[in-house]
Amino acid sequence: MKFGGSITKLDQEVIIETIRKATETFKNPVFVEVGICRAQTSRAIMETLNGLKVKSKLICIDKNLKSQKCWKTKCQDRVGFCASEFILSDSWSFTPKEKNLAWVFIDACHCYECVKRDIEHWAPLVMPGGFLLFHDAAKIMMTRTNPKSYHGDNIIRPIGVYKALEDWDCKEFIFYGKSDAVLSKRDRWKGSTNAYQKK
Ligand SMILES: C[S@@+](CC[C@H](N)C(=O)[O-])C[C@H]1O[C@@H](n2cnc3c(N)ncnc32)[C@H](O)[C@@H]1O
Ligand SMILES: [Zn+2]
Repeated sequence: MKFGGSITKLDQEVIIETIRKATETFKNPVFVEVGICRAQTSRAIMETLNGLKVKSKLICIDKNLKSQKCWKTKCQDRVGFCASEFILSDSWSFTPKEKNLAWVFIDACHCYECVKRDIEHWAPLVMPGGFLLFHDAAKIMMTRTNPKSYHGDNIIRPIGVYKALEDWDCKEFIFYGKSDAVLSKRDRWKGSTNAYQKK
């Protein structure tokens, strides 16, 4: 099972553990990944759910047509027990008809403003007992910047996940676990995931 290139082994542990917990808690659970890119992680999530033999659905959201193409190749066909749907949209402009979500993984634009909007939109949609995860959440990741193409302008925006999570008044959630960032062979900080569980 191959996750996307920015998902480290440590990230995978948090992702798989929370998926497993969610499948133990909910019947026919609905999963969401926001930010799809090459859809490798989407495929790996589907394979994980299939391995757990849980009838489930993965909703994949990305505003880029290239991501939709990748999703079509890797995820459009059902993977055993897991079906998938792609939504071409801004993260916060789409609300699934299944409003009670078991697990939401936020990995789209990591600038402070976008993550804030992601939190406001997605946190209320998670079911009690369900999970909300954020990629690139470590403090050290704030030394890195976001691709300019995400906003289509020339402004450099630092990764602001850590700050957005610090400012989040997450009374309805408890911190569940995290993976730390790791230094890649090219000397760049990579990965880190924070997971929160709804009370
Ligand atoms: C870091 S990549 C996703 C990586 C993927 N989760 C993986 O593990 O391989 C970020 C993706 O978010 C998408 N994106 C950026 N801003 C977005 C937004 N506001 N709404 C939806 N998608 C967005 C980009 O098009 C890009 O494909
Ligand atoms: Zn942004």
